[in-house]
Amino acid sequence: MKNFPTKLLAILVWLAPICGAGLAAAAEEAPLSSASDDCIACHASVHPGIVADWKRSRHSRVTPAQALKKPKLQRRISASNVPENLANVAVGCAECHTMRAESHKDTFEHGDRKVHIVVSPADCATCHSEEASQFENNLMSFARKNLAQNKLYETLIKSVNGVRSLHGMKTSISDPDPETNADSCYHCHGTEVLVKGKVTRDTQAGEMEFPILEGWPNSGVGRFNPDGSKGSCSACHSRHQFAIQVARQPYTCSQCHKGPDVPAYPAFDVSKHGNLTASLKGEWKLTDVPWTVGKDFSAPTCAVCHVSLLVDSEGEIVAKRTHQMSDRLPWRILGLIYAHPHPKSPDTSIIVNKDGIQLPTTFTNERASQYLIDQAEMTKRRETLHKVCISCHSSEWVNGHWRRLENAIETTNQMTLTATKIALQAWEKGVAQRDNPFDEAIEKQWVQQWLFYANSTRFASAMMGADFGVFAHGRWHMAKNIQEMLDKLKALLILRRAAEDLPTKK
Ligand code: HEC
Ligand code: HEC
Ligand code: HEC
Ligand code: HEC
Ligand code: HEC
Ligand code: HEC
Ligand code: HEC
Ligand code: HEC
Repeated sequence: MKNFPTKLLAILVWLAPICGAGLAAAAEEAPLSSASDDCIACHASVHPGIVADWKRSRHSRVTPAQALKKPKLQRRISASNVPENLANVAVGCAECHTMRAESHKDTFEHGDRKVHIVVSPADCATCHSEEASQFENNLMSFARKNLAQNKLYETLIKSVNGVRSLHGMKTSISDPDPETNADSCYHCHGTEVLVKGKVTRDTQAGEMEFPILEGWPNSGVGRFNPDGSKGSCSACHSRHQFAIQVARQPYTCSQCHKGPDVPAYPAFDVSKHGNLTASLKGEWKLTDVPWTVGKDFSAPTCAVCHVSLLVDSEGEIVAKRTHQMSDRLPWRILGLIYAHPHPKSPDTSIIVNKDGIQLPTTFTNERASQYLIDQAEMTKRRETLHKVCISCHSSEWVNGHWRRLENAIETTNQMTLTATKIALQAWEKGVAQRDNPFDEAIEKQWVQQWLFYANSTRFASAMMGADFGVFAHGRWHMAKNIQEMLDKLKALLILRRAAEDLPTKK
């Protein structure tokens, strides 16, 4: 600890017996490495919240070697072996925050150790290799790239986040500043975390040097990390408890899947499944692995349908755990701008449609089929998802639901097409400008048609929350919006005509 100021050593000497006693008292704790012992000696007083959370986690109680001995379905680590120096100690502060030090641009000298701040999916992969590699194939790990490297989405970001100024009878939009983008789109999609030099801070343990991080704090699903990896596992596994019961509850997903553009949570919330979860989850076993349908829980949460490893009362597998998630999803019901079969690659920035735009469908709903999964793959994924449903429902019930969902996909796509034809007329007739299709009043209505109302109708159908998809945010609004767009188009044409007829000065 030679690099720490002496003032600090005094605190340490004073704290060590207190922390030591605290640790010994909890019998079920796994042995600590001497490095983590050092971290905790200090951080127990610097960050008591972090240390207490970590102590409640399984990382403090079970060593990787003990975890590896459990039967396959009960195992909570997926790596087939773990480096020797990590195997027989608790997963402590140092195990995560000094892992792969050379790969992290945010590594800094902290006492005698090389510590980094942003523990990344690539670090977790040392013990959770399967989850990390599956997550790399999830759209979520591409959430930043998919936005940041798409020209059309760049225009959308600008029209939402840019500051507007008035010049006479016109407005201009400035390029959005990075802090606004980090507070808005990239809060969920993930920032790029960059190291911008070093700073000396006066801490409660004296002066210490730390890296300056840009794009921080953030735990967006597709974050670009200083070690070159993508995403943040703590988007769903909040640190430092990393408790499975948090990830299994719908509130975790609601952090991001709640807005009118992506309303999975509000639709689920008003469904029977949502009601049963809210009413009964106090009686459920949210920590058991594997998770037994019926015994541990009686209605599905988001995790049950989209992620979890499920077994029946005989211990037979109903569904394998997946951090890829798309392997249970035939359709992309998030309209871009129409609902369509899922993209083959989670990197949607590579898609180019017939009109040369980076979208999976053209404005008139021609699919960029070479980038999308085929019918056979769609059937396979539907069957995977339906295996989850039929552990609680008859196949007739489930097929009936599916028929309605696919009908909702069809009819909402038609309503988007009708609204788009009105927008196309406005562009063709020159009463709106297509270069930025998101900024004028009639264009904003068009965006709401597919982004809010069609999406809400489909999410309500998929997640059985009918109320959300009718008058709240769905079908009523799709119909009303089309009428209003048409009236606006007519008004714009009449206004232009009137302006042309005005006498002009010679
Ligand atoms: C001598 C006391 C001490 C020891 C030992 C110590 N730390 Fe710290 N650490 C601090 C203080 C003080 C801060 C600054 C807190 C602040 O600025 O609010 C800090 C900050 C940090 C940060 C956050 C840096 C940032 O800028 O966000 C991390 C991560 C960290 N320590 C991890 C560790 C790890 C891992 C170990 C063990 C290998 C460790 N620390 C050992 C005192 C210590
Ligand atoms: C979008 C949310 C989400 C993200 C992001 C996420 N997970 Fe998970 N994770 C879950 C859910 C939900 C479960 C519960 C699965 C179950 O019930 O079987 C889970 C379970 C786990 C488990 C427990 C496995 C077990 O056997 O008990 C581990 C380990 C895990 N995740 C690791 C990771 C790692 C590592 C990352 C980052 C690469 C990650 N997760 C990212 C949602 C997520
Ligand atoms: C299982 C791995 C793991 C362990 C063990 C762990 N951390 Fe962390 N830590 C993380 C992750 C992940 C983040 C946040 C990165 C993100 O948001 O994606 C983080 C962030 C932090 C931060 C910066 C964030 C903030 O809120 O200021 C501090 C400080 C920190 N950890 C301290 C500790 C201390 C002290 C311990 C030991 C008691 C510890 N960590 C143990 C994974 C771990
Ligand atoms: C050095 C190995 C190691 C690393 C690195 C590691 N873990 Fe773990 N993880 C474990 C062990 C051991 C357990 C407990 C296994 C058990 O209880 O059988 C565990 C359990 C978990 C669980 C299940 C918790 C529960 O309540 O069931 C989650 C989720 C998890 N880890 C996420 C992460 C994330 C996210 C990271 C990276 C930020 C990470 N782990 C890094 C070894 C590790
Ligand atoms: C509260 C979290 C959150 C914020 C803030 C957010 N998004 Fe998203 N975004 C999501 C979620 C969740 C999805 C995926 C929804 C789904 O698949 O059902 C998504 C998906 C997208 C997609 C689809 C990308 C693709 O190719 O697959 C685009 C485009 C998008 N968002 C644009 C934006 C823009 C632009 C902003 C800022 C103006 C923004 N988002 C802000 C959560 C968010
Ligand atoms: C921090 C924000 C965030 C959290 C938390 C989050 N998501 Fe997402 N999710 C996103 C974004 C953003 C996308 C879209 C990325 C894109 O299209 O590029 C997405 C996409 C998805 C997709 C499509 C994945 C694919 O590969 O097809 C599913 C399914 C999904 N999320 C389910 C969940 C579930 C279930 C949870 C909770 C266990 C959850 N998400 C938690 C932000 C989040
Ligand atoms: C009863 C099972 C079930 C539950 C519970 C459930 N979903 Fe879904 N989810 C579905 C079905 C069915 C679909 C549509 C299937 C498809 O897109 O192919 C879907 C689609 C989605 C999508 C759209 C994926 C895309 O690529 O467009 C996201 C995101 C999503 N769900 C997130 C969630 C979240 C978040 C929750 C919890 C708040 C949740 N789901 C609860 C069954 C469920
Ligand atoms: C863990 C058990 C469980 C799973 C898994 C499950 N459900 Fe349900 N579901 C229920 C229960 C219980 C009800 C409430 C029945 C009732 O009282 O009407 C319900 C209700 C429904 C309803 C009626 C909604 C309403 O408001 O009337 C539909 C539709 C439905 N489920 C479809 C599905 C589909 C599709 C899947 C798979 C994607 C699925 N369920 C997965 C337990 C489950």
